[in-house]
Amino acid sequence: MRFVVTAGPTREFIDPVRFLSNPSTGRMGFAVARAARAAGHEVTLIAGPVVLRTPYGVTRIDVVSARDMLKAVRTVIARADVLVMTAAVADWRPARRAAQKLKKSEMSDTLRLVRNPDILKTVARHDLIRIGFAAETGAPAAEAACKCREKGLDLVVGNDVTARDSGFGTDTNRVTFVTPDGRVQHLPLMSKLAVARRIVSFAEGMATNG
Ligand code: PMT
Repeated sequence: MRFVVTAGPTREFIDPVRFLSNPSTGRMGFAVARAARAAGHEVTLIAGPVVLRTPYGVTRIDVVSARDMLKAVRTVIARADVLVMTAAVADWRPARRAAQKLKKSEMSDTLRLVRNPDILKTVARHDLIRIGFAAETGAPAAEAACKCREKGLDLVVGNDVTARDSGFGTDTNRVTFVTPDGRVQHLPLMSKLAVARRIVSFAEGMATNG
């Protein structure tokens, strides 16, 4: 199968030296790319600004902002069978990006924001398996179920990003799989690579069983 995997944060620049972002390191997404490649699949990895090495045999596209990420996803998605969105995409960007560094005296205390496009929703296609993540600070299963319905996904992987051993920047993750039939599967703490293997198996199972 052909996998497209997104990883890492996006950066939404205010001016050339300031941006809005989040703590994603790309580890979860790079693990999914590695696991899919190791299972014999073709993998394109679309990465926000991270400092990780590209897994062997994986095609990588580097992006910065949410809109860059959407553009990159759009260029490759027509050939894809599976999209796994592990990226922590910024939901908002500054309404205006200044070309020059803003002086403190020119900046106001409030920043006007506009919504970024939702990548998962934008690239919906009936024959594309779409897997999303839900980064939550409480009740990840309930929030994941909500995202599964709202975005019409085949699987949502919920993770509590307030836990010390899970979420942003860790080598391990404790996740909950939520599917559109309402099934909820809590997985124990495991390495991000082991979580990634479960996600790849899920996609393989869907492709086989429909
Ligand atoms: O990179 P690491 O340090 O390893 O950390 C991993 C992680 C915590 C970033 C990862 O496990 C994770 O939870 N990723 C999703 C983070 C997130 O943005 O969640 P969300 O609830 O805001 O978004 C829900 C889903 O919609 C996600 O699949 C996201 O990629 C997608 N999305 C969000 C916004 C947007 N504009 N377009 C999208 O497609």
